Amino acid sequence: MAGNSNLHTANKEKNDEFYTQLVDIENELKHYKEHFKNKVVLCNCDDPFESNFFKYFAMNFNYLGLKKLIATCYDGSPISYTQLSFFDVPEKIVFTEKRKAYKIEITEVLDYNNDGAVDLSDVKYLLKSNKNSLSHLESDGDFRSYECVELLEQADIVVTNPPFSLFREYVALLMAYKKQFLIIGNQNAITYKEIFPLIARNKIWLGYNSGGQVFQVPKSFERNNTFFANGKKFAKFGNICWYTNLPTRKREEKLPLYKKYTPEEYPKYDNYNAINVDKVAEIPYDYDGVMGVPITFLDKYNPEQFEIVAFRKGEDGKDLVYSLSRNTSVNLGGAYQTLFQNTHTTTSSDQFLKVKKSIEESLYGKYSTSIPGMIKNAEGKIQGKITYARMTIRRKKDEN
Ligand SMILES: C[S@@+](CC[C@H](N)C(=O)[O-])C[C@H]1O[C@@H](n2cnc3c(N)ncnc32)[C@H](O)[C@@H]1O
Repeated sequence: MAGNSNLHTANKEKNDEFYTQLVDIENELKHYKEHFKNKVVLCNCDDPFESNFFKYFAMNFNYLGLKKLIATCYDGSPISYTQLSFFDVPEKIVFTEKRKAYKIEITEVLDYNNDGAVDLSDVKYLLKSNKNSLSHLESDGDFRSYECVELLEQADIVVTNPPFSLFREYVALLMAYKKQFLIIGNQNAITYKEIFPLIARNKIWLGYNSGGQVFQVPKSFERNNTFFANGKKFAKFGNICWYTNLPTRKREEKLPLYKKYTPEEYPKYDNYNAINVDKVAEIPYDYDGVMGVPITFLDKYNPEQFEIVAFRKGEDGKDLVYSLSRNTSVNLGGAYQTLFQNTHTTTSSDQFLKVKKSIEESLYGKYSTSIPGMIKNAEGKIQGKITYARMTIRRKKDEN
């Protein structure tokens, strides 16, 4: 078993090793230039010798008007630097079998070779020289370590592709430190109970690009959809997107609606007072109630046009914070708790669940879901048949 678990850990580590291509970074970052002037940028999952995020910001340091660029490298990576290194590694950084944790802090990038432009060769020179500070970290470079959190505190904007296996923790840290960010993640993260509430409350939204994306991977990376090009190994991931809290113009664009609502085409859920919409493009222009739409809707979400219906108003006019249909750890209030405990101890589990449900329904209404604003699994049945994951939205009243 121990062997299996090691294998699992190793696989997990390995699967966090995929490297963003410069072209994908450029395609997203080109929309945010105005936000970077005079800012301290942190790339905290980025070995400067391997990361195109570092390369992008170093090459565009002057164009963006950055104040400082910081990149930190994690030593927990199972790969050796030789597999992906984009630049020659200076002697100052001594590698053993594993990468060592270090940081680089840059406050200027000049035309060192006097060729009239600040480009990759200048970045190379900069990495090799002592002009900027390149130093080992005491700890392992984990983004949660005290040293990296100190750097996070200095930063205005964090930009990277963090390890997907730690995405929840990564975002929680950024939110806790109230940082602006632009990060790559898996689209599935939209449905995480730690992430969706942030989206529903308009604290996080999607950037410009989403869908399939190709990443460079170590040669040892095992996964479907890998291929070689120019001696390098790449993997295609199908559902990638950018998460950000930087303003985007895309969020101001309205989704054109052309379909008319009919009860036949848009059936209601059995257990939720909303109609099901299978395609984002087919959201009806004349339905005023709640609609369950595919999570890809977020790519078209303009908060002026739609609201995410995550917090149902109760009789008392207060928003519900969490649904109780699954989350029994929520503070239920004395009377309910007593009833709940009594029911639990004196009835069979079927009866218990029934009573529990009816209590919850009478107290909170029958339309609550386990992740507010998200209909998943059995919550989304239509005539007994489970539908795909949906998020619940409504057209804004004054929107036409
Ligand atoms: C998805 S890769 C992306 C690398 C790079 N940011 C890029 O986009 O090319 C995630 C990186 O985070 C590193 N990593 C894994 N766990 C980490 C941790 N706890 N703290 C910091 N970095 C970590 C991995 O070694 C890996 O290099």
